[in-house]
Amino acid sequence: KKSNQSDIGLIGLAVMGQNLVLNMADHGYKVSVYNRTTSKMEAFIKDCEENEPSAERVVGFAELKDFVKSIAKPRKIVLLVQSTAVLPHDRDAVDATIAGLLPLIDKGDIIIDGGNSNWNATIRREEELTKAGYEFIGSGVSGGELGARFGPSLMPGGSKKAWKSLKPIWEAIAAKVDPKTGKPYEDYKKGVPITEGETCTTHIGADGAGHYVKMVHNGIEYIDMQLICEAYQLMKDLLGMKPDEMSKVFGQWNEGLLDSFLIEITTDILQQKDPTNKRKWFVDIVLDAAGQKGTGKWTSTSALDMGIPANAIAEAVFARCLSAIKEERVAASKKLKGPKNTKPVRGKKALIEAIHDALYSSKICAYAQGFQLMAEAQNEYGWKLNFGEIAKIFRGGCIIRARFLQKITEAYAKDPKLQNLMLDPFFKKELHRCQENWRKVVSLAVLNGVPTPAFSSALAYFDGYRSAVVPANLLQAQRDYFGAHTYERVDKPRGQKFHVDWPEPD
Ligand code: ATR
Repeated sequence: KKSNQSDIGLIGLAVMGQNLVLNMADHGYKVSVYNRTTSKMEAFIKDCEENEPSAERVVGFAELKDFVKSIAKPRKIVLLVQSTAVLPHDRDAVDATIAGLLPLIDKGDIIIDGGNSNWNATIRREEELTKAGYEFIGSGVSGGELGARFGPSLMPGGSKKAWKSLKPIWEAIAAKVDPKTGKPYEDYKKGVPITEGETCTTHIGADGAGHYVKMVHNGIEYIDMQLICEAYQLMKDLLGMKPDEMSKVFGQWNEGLLDSFLIEITTDILQQKDPTNKRKWFVDIVLDAAGQKGTGKWTSTSALDMGIPANAIAEAVFARCLSAIKEERVAASKKLKGPKNTKPVRGKKALIEAIHDALYSSKICAYAQGFQLMAEAQNEYGWKLNFGEIAKIFRGGCIIRARFLQKITEAYAKDPKLQNLMLDPFFKKELHRCQENWRKVVSLAVLNGVPTPAFSSALAYFDGYRSAVVPANLLQAQRDYFGAHTYERVDKPRGQKFHVDWPEPD
C-alpha cells in the first residue's frame, strides 16, 4: 500500500461503528471513516483527538469518493449501518450504502457488513456482489459497545478468499481467551491492545453463515437472560429475598458452573441503588416491560420454518412480549386469581441450590436447542459449520460468554457429529444430577402460581426428547379421522401409509 493509505475503511459511525474503529486503531491499523451525516463524523474525529491515544490513525472523510480513494487496494470497507431487511428481496440502508459504493470501488474490493443483518439478506447480497466481481463478508459482531471497543466475538461468513484478506485484522481486534482457563482477558486499557491468547473469531462458513450464527447467539442470549430473571423472581416471590441478598447468591454462582458475563452483570445490577433515590433498589424502580430488536424472533421463526423444536428460545421471546403488555397485566391482576392454598416455602438454602440446578439444566437445554438450529441450518443452506469452533469463539467478547462454553467445545471435539448436546457424556451426567432439583423448582413454581416459562419449557424439551413414545399416535389418528391424512403403523416400516374410513373403520 502507499504509505499514506488506510488499511481499512468503515462507514456508519453509530455506537458500534465508532468502537470498532477505535479497536482497529488501537491495534495499529489506519482507518478511514465516513458517515452519511457528516457532522457525526466530525464530532467523532474531534472526540478521538481529545480522548484517544490512537487518534492519529483515524481519518475522517466528508465525501464518499475521497474516503474510497484513501483506502489501500484491494479495499476493505466495513459497513455498520442500520439494517432492517428481513426477507431476501427487502432493501435497506445496507443496500443503499452498497449501491453508493459500487460506482467508486474496484473489482476485487471487499465489503464487510458488520451489522445485525438478517442472514437471508446476507445470502442475497453475497450472491449479487460476487456475481458483479466484488467480495462480500457478512460478519456477526457481538459484545455490545465494550466488546466492539476492546474485543468482540466476530462471526464472519463469506468466501475463503475474502476471509483471507480480512483475517489478520479480525483476528487482531477480536476478544482473546486464556487457552488454559478458557476465560477471556478483560484487562482493557485504551490504546493498549490485548494481543495474547486464543482469538474469538473464525471463518464460520459461506455467505449468510456468520449472520445466522450471530442470530442464534442472540436467541441463546434471550433465553440465558430469561432464565436468570426466572431465578430472580423465584427468590423474590418464594423466598422473599431482597436484591442485595440475591446479588450475593448470583456472586457465588458466578464462581462455579454458571460463571458467565450475564450472571456477573446480574450480581452488579442487584446491588445497585436507584440513582435518584438511594433508599430504593435500582431493579425495583425499573419498569417490567422488555424491549426487543428482533433477533430472538428471527431465531424462533427460523426454528419454526425448519421444524426444529427450540421451544425454550421461543418462550424467552414470548416472555418479553407478555412483559410488554404491562397495562393489560395490571388490569388482569385485579381480576384473575392465582392458587388459593400456597404454602410457605421452607428450606431456603436447599431451594436456592435447587434454583441453581434448574437454571443450569435449563441452560444446557437452551444451548442444545441453539446448536440443533445451527445443525439444521447447515443442511438447509449448504454450510459446513464447526460447532466446537463456534462454541470456542463464544467464550470471549460476546454477551453469552461463559465458562460453560469450554465444555461445549470439548463435547464437539470428542464427537464432531454429536446429535444433541444433551447426549454428550458430561452434559448427560449434569442433567441427571440436576433433574430432581429442576423438577422440584418447576413444581413449586406451578403450585405457587409463579410463571417460569423458560424453566418449564426447557424441562418439557428434556422430557420430550428422552421419550421413546409421545402421544402423537393419538394425534395422527385424529388427523386421519378428520382429514384422511393417513398414519404409519408401529408394526410396519416407516413411510408406509395407512388410512381407515372413519367414522366406522371395518
Ligand atoms: P444504533 O442502533 O447503534 O444507533 P443503527 O441505527 O443500526 O445504529 O445505525 C445507525 C447508522 O446507520 C448511522 O451511521 C446512520 O447514519 P446517519 O448518522 O447519517 O443517520 C446509518 N444509516 C442509517 N440509514 C442510512 C442510510 N439510508 N444510508 C446511509 N447510512 C445510513
